[in-house]
Amino acid sequence: MSPQQGKSGKPERIDAATVAKAFDAHARSYDKLVNANPGYHEHLRLSAKRMGLRDGGAGLRLLDLGCGTGASTAALLDAVPQAEITAVDASAEMLAQARRKSWPPTVRFVHGDAQELDPVKFTGPYDGILAAYLLRNLSDRNAALRRFRELLRPGSPLAVHEYSVRDSARSRMVWTAVSWGVIIPMGRMRTGSADLYRYLWRSVLDFDGVEAFTDRLTAVGFEDVRVQTVPGWQQHIVHTFLGRSPGVPAGPDPDAPTPPDGLDLTK
Ligand SMILES: C[S@@+](CC[C@H](N)C(=O)[O-])C[C@H]1O[C@@H](n2cnc3c(N)ncnc32)[C@H](O)[C@@H]1O
Repeated sequence: MSPQQGKSGKPERIDAATVAKAFDAHARSYDKLVNANPGYHEHLRLSAKRMGLRDGGAGLRLLDLGCGTGASTAALLDAVPQAEITAVDASAEMLAQARRKSWPPTVRFVHGDAQELDPVKFTGPYDGILAAYLLRNLSDRNAALRRFRELLRPGSPLAVHEYSVRDSARSRMVWTAVSWGVIIPMGRMRTGSADLYRYLWRSVLDFDGVEAFTDRLTAVGFEDVRVQTVPGWQQHIVHTFLGRSPGVPAGPDPDAPTPPDGLDLTK
């Protein structure tokens, strides 16, 4: 990718089509790079579990936004193997890599822009949304988050799995050292171009700090907002931001007949 450089030398916020093109160009090498990152898959699984979805996901409809080659989709599936998962990405090549893997029939991949989820293609309500390493790339984060909230059933979780280093000098330093010492050279070696990985470095530095992002989630209407980090070198660098759409989750029907002891009519 060639993210446009602003006068400051920083990349300007780029549109979905430009981001998608960048990921298209790197799709084939993406899995090799993330597999070399210790904890990448484990941390995604942690964020998926932190959503607190119940009953192995039976009867639940979930969205994995910015699913890429399916690493976050696999993490959701690991947490809730029986859920129906719609995985969305703007990059056709990243989706092609995802589709080459083996998935149960309850998982489907859809080409689309998470910034503008089409109401015809994406009919809520959903019972949970995971957005892993997506938010940084969106041009209007508040509008996108509001749309995610609208798509969720009342009381359902959003998990944003994302880098956030702005609030900590140590985190910024470690992130810059790992980016320039490992990620950017490895990206250049595997793909011949380091543009996407330089953009990754810069976009993480530019992204909201933990406090600003949790405030943003609250400001757009999420409730019960909280944040947890992950273990490993990514501690205080990668976070799970959690929130719930407002309202109380639908409980059992009060008019339903009382089942005899030991018989659960909801199963
Ligand atoms: C860093 S990858 C993460 C992929 C996956 N979630 C994971 O955890 O491995 C970010 C993905 O977000 C996708 N993306 C970026 N902007 C998007 C948008 N506006 N709509 C949908 N997908 C987008 C990119 O194409 C890319 O596949």
